Amino acid sequence: MIARELVVIPSFAREVEEGLSRTPKSLPSKLFYDGPGSVLFEEITRLPEYYLTRTELEILRTRADEIALAAGPNIAVVELGAGTATKTTTILRAFAGKQIRTSYFPVDISPSALDDAKIHITMQCPTVRVRPVVADFSEGFGFLRDIPGRKLVLYLGSSIGNFDPENAVSMLSEVRKQLSQGDSLLLGTDLIKPSAILIPAYDDARGITAQFNRNILRRLNRELGTGFYVNAFRHVACWNAVRSRMEMHLQSQCRQTVSLGILGSKVNFSGGERIHTENSYKYTTDTVNKMLASAGFSLDETWFDHRKWFALNLARVSAAAKIADDSACG
Ligand code: AVJ
Repeated sequence: MIARELVVIPSFAREVEEGLSRTPKSLPSKLFYDGPGSVLFEEITRLPEYYLTRTELEILRTRADEIALAAGPNIAVVELGAGTATKTTTILRAFAGKQIRTSYFPVDISPSALDDAKIHITMQCPTVRVRPVVADFSEGFGFLRDIPGRKLVLYLGSSIGNFDPENAVSMLSEVRKQLSQGDSLLLGTDLIKPSAILIPAYDDARGITAQFNRNILRRLNRELGTGFYVNAFRHVACWNAVRSRMEMHLQSQCRQTVSLGILGSKVNFSGGERIHTENSYKYTTDTVNKMLASAGFSLDETWFDHRKWFALNLARVSAAAKIADDSACG
């Protein structure tokens, strides 16, 4: 008897096949964050060149009380893509100091990250009730409706920058639809700055970002049985001034054919051909304002670090959008 092996095809397999059959080739940046990729990302956040995390933390540390005051009374804090929630203690302490009870709902796709978040926050802010939510944003933001009371939704780290402008607006609109008057959004956005600062942030001297980028191929080899020779791809980080974004690519160092494993197909690379793996959009106060307005939010207040490299934007559910919703029901 020959036992047939059951081959489970991961849900992202078709996206991979599709991205690699297009010109130019691309892979979805969400694939970076498997176990090893999440560890590499944590390492990136501590690199001297990667100013984003440290700069946003500076704003949170110095402005937490102002932010908490601006958010209003009796707030539940919800964090989208919370990960291990290392930056959030700043803001939670500020709320714990001004209201009787504070609940924190870290939302993430990774249950293990949420376990770490819960342990970390419970130790650092013992009076805060932590209620982790496992959710995949591609399935919507319905979970926001189940959280009672007034909310401050955090979306930090300039994670919004991974979305193309149209998709960023639709993502924020989806969030907006689940919120009510009185709720607000605190959005972290990285700002446009000289490419001499931007490029090293995505191409560090120790090569950690290069490892992070190439890890996507390791993951495909492991999970789809693809035949990428990882070292045959060079990490490329470049500033696209026209589109106002940092880009990461993997550049094939030779002409080669790679098997796509369980997908049963093959993909050809010419020498020097690139796979586009990530966009990280950079903003101005004006582009942030427009993005939020298009999504039904009104920008209320913006806080910067001392060099004005990064911005934390507090936006409210705008009254105009609320009226539009009400009239749609009639
Ligand atoms: C987590 C999406 C904000 O775009 O700066 C870090 C990911 N990519 N180094 C970013 C990332 C390369 C990061 N975000």
